[in-house]
Amino acid sequence: MKIVVIGGSGLIGSRLVKKLREHGHETVAASPDSGVNTLTGEGLAEALKGALVVVDVSNSPSWEDSAVMKFFETSTRNLLTYEAAADVRHHVALSVVGTDRLSESGYFRAKIAQEKLIEGSSIPYSIVHATQFFEFLKGLADISTDGDKVRLPHVLFQPMAADDVASGVDRIAVGPPVNGIVEIAGPEQFYLDDLVRRRLAALKDPREVIADPKAGYSGAKISERTLVPGNDARRGETRFETWLTQQGQIPSPKQPVRKAG
Ligand SMILES: NC(=O)c1ccc[n+]([C@@H]2O[C@H](COP(=O)([O-])OP(=O)(O)OC[C@H]3O[C@@H](n4cnc5c(N)ncnc54)[C@H](OP(=O)(O)O)[C@@H]3O)[C@@H](O)[C@H]2O)c1
Repeated sequence: MKIVVIGGSGLIGSRLVKKLREHGHETVAASPDSGVNTLTGEGLAEALKGALVVVDVSNSPSWEDSAVMKFFETSTRNLLTYEAAADVRHHVALSVVGTDRLSESGYFRAKIAQEKLIEGSSIPYSIVHATQFFEFLKGLADISTDGDKVRLPHVLFQPMAADDVASGVDRIAVGPPVNGIVEIAGPEQFYLDDLVRRRLAALKDPREVIADPKAGYSGAKISERTLVPGNDARRGETRFETWLTQQGQIPSPKQPVRKAG
């Protein structure tokens, strides 16, 4: 079956394209570099010709409030319009666990807008809500840095490896549309500030991580379980320590808060 991966050159997209091809699917890795731009519509009609499934794992180059809203609204509208014309049977989009609880954040308002457009369209769909990627822990520190300190709330989360995200999206993309949301998550829960501290230590990054009850997540106020998925979330296998070892860094001996579930 022909599957088009929008954002096929990205962190998740490149892994997903590899997996789909290994499973024998004709897979197009679409991104501006390969001549497909969802903001302008360039290359979309050609890429979507004969496709049964489109998986959107793109992301906005800018996370500034109005830029990110313009990105997800315009590119999702364009995609859905071109998919209807090409008779695509399944639109899959990657979003974030807790998106609906994070509307104080400009980034998450844009993800909410993306999801609303998908839900309101005529194309059968599956929205995959993933938890934070291990690969994003340093990026999370970067967006939470204030001077030489990283300020993060002491709240639970259940992050996962990008490779497991790609496997989860792969399974959903080749299955029937759920016309709803599926949650995927990591195998363990941690406190956000603890894990970012451990990631920075492994990277020998000198920034101090402060547990700050007033600090938000991506500009939104959150409580202890805002980022935690429901009990039905499908679990990836990779534990944080295993992933960290795979990155070639020295693992910290500290254990997770608890094994999820
Ligand atoms: N970070 C997290 O922890 C997390 C957690 C759950 C869900 N998510 C979601 O996961 C998704 C993917 O994230 P990621 O980290 O894999 O993204 P990424 O590595 O930044 O990749 C983004 C992709 O989008 C492409 N792209 C950018 N502008 C485009 C355009 N105008 N037309 C077509 N493609 C375009 C990029 O192409 P170029 O390579 O040419 O720039 C790239 O392939 C996001 O939607 C995000 O909301 C993230």
